[in-house]
This record gives sequence, structure tokens and C-alpha cells, in this order.
Amino acid sequence: MAYRLGEVILSRDTIARRVKELAEEIANDYGKDKSIVVVGILTGAAFFLTDIVRELPEDIDVRVDFMSVASYGDNTESSGVVRIFHDLKSSIEGKHVIVVEDIVDSGLTLSHLIGLLEGRHPESLKVCVLLDKYERRKTEVKVDYCGFRIPDKFVVGYGLDYAGKWRHLKDIKYVVAE
Ligand code: PRP
Repeated sequence: MAYRLGEVILSRDTIARRVKELAEEIANDYGKDKSIVVVGILTGAAFFLTDIVRELPEDIDVRVDFMSVASYGDNTESSGVVRIFHDLKSSIEGKHVIVVEDIVDSGLTLSHLIGLLEGRHPESLKVCVLLDKYERRKTEVKVDYCGFRIPDKFVVGYGLDYAGKWRHLKDIKYVVAE
């Protein structure tokens, strides 16, 4: 089946406003005394992460690290098994960690990741996601910062892909079957 881009679900302005709000929430929660490690889960979250950290005040001690894991590949269902392709560069032991994801769907990827990262003994670990497809949850995940709750429809853009395509869109759009 062929797919094409559909309507905009979240415009670039709506996303930018919400990203700013989330950054303010994070800045208020952690303050200036705590060092934060923001962990982005490649590839999708890289777009959201780079925007959100740049909205944090200059006097916040924030580091950025990335992990590359696979759960979906080119399919639309999570396998539930997270394979690590690229691990963090630095230890998170004793650190305040915020895991940043573009989307939580079944919750399987995040719950695996949280378990894995908790095992490395961070001082604290919170989760920040741009999109929450809450209707599809198969396992409970505690999301501390959430951009938007969205319906169970396929969306792309702002880091989200369909078979590797359309990540570069500034707006988040529906994908529709032709
Ligand atoms: C997406 C997303 C999460 C996962 C969420 O990643 O970034 O990691 O799926 O799905 P779940 O809650 O059902 O586990 P994907 O594997 O598509 O990788 P990508 O970021 O490289 O596109």
C-alpha cells in the first residue's frame, strides 16, 4: 500500500510553544544546583531534544548524551525487545537523568530502557516525551513531562518517521493510505 502525507496534527508553532513550556517546567523542577544529563533516544528524539535543551536557561548545568536502540525497525509494531546499537558516552551513576523520547506508544521501549538505566544507579531518572499515544499502551510507563497526548493514528515529522521517511518535516502530520 502507498502512503502520502495528510493533515497537520501539530504545527511547528504549537510544538515550539509546548517545547518552551516543558523546558520551563524542567528548569523549575531541577533549579540551578543540580546537574542534569539529558539522554536522547535516537533517532526520532534528536529533533525534540535539541530544541528543548536550547530552551533551558544558560545557568542550568545540563549535559547531553545519546543512545541508539531499536524496537520497531521498519515495522509498525514494537518488538518489545530493545537492542542497544550505541550506548551512552558517559556514566550516569549518581546523576539526575532525563530520558527524552519522541513518542511513547506501547511503552515497551521506554519500560525496557528505564529498567536498564535504573540499573546504572542514577540519582534520579525522569522521562520526557513529546507525544503520548496513550490508547496503545501495553505496559505502564511513568511519563514525567509530556508534550501532547495524541490519538492512535500514524504520524510523521519533527523526528518521527515512516520507514525512515519524513523525519525532516517541521510540522507533525498524519500519514494516510492512498
Ligand atoms: C519509536 C520511538 C520509541 C518507540 C516507541 O522508535 O522513538 O523509541 O518507537 O514505541 P513503543 O512505546 O511501542 O515501544 P523507533 O524504533 O521508531 O526508532 P526511531 O526513533 O529511530 O524512529
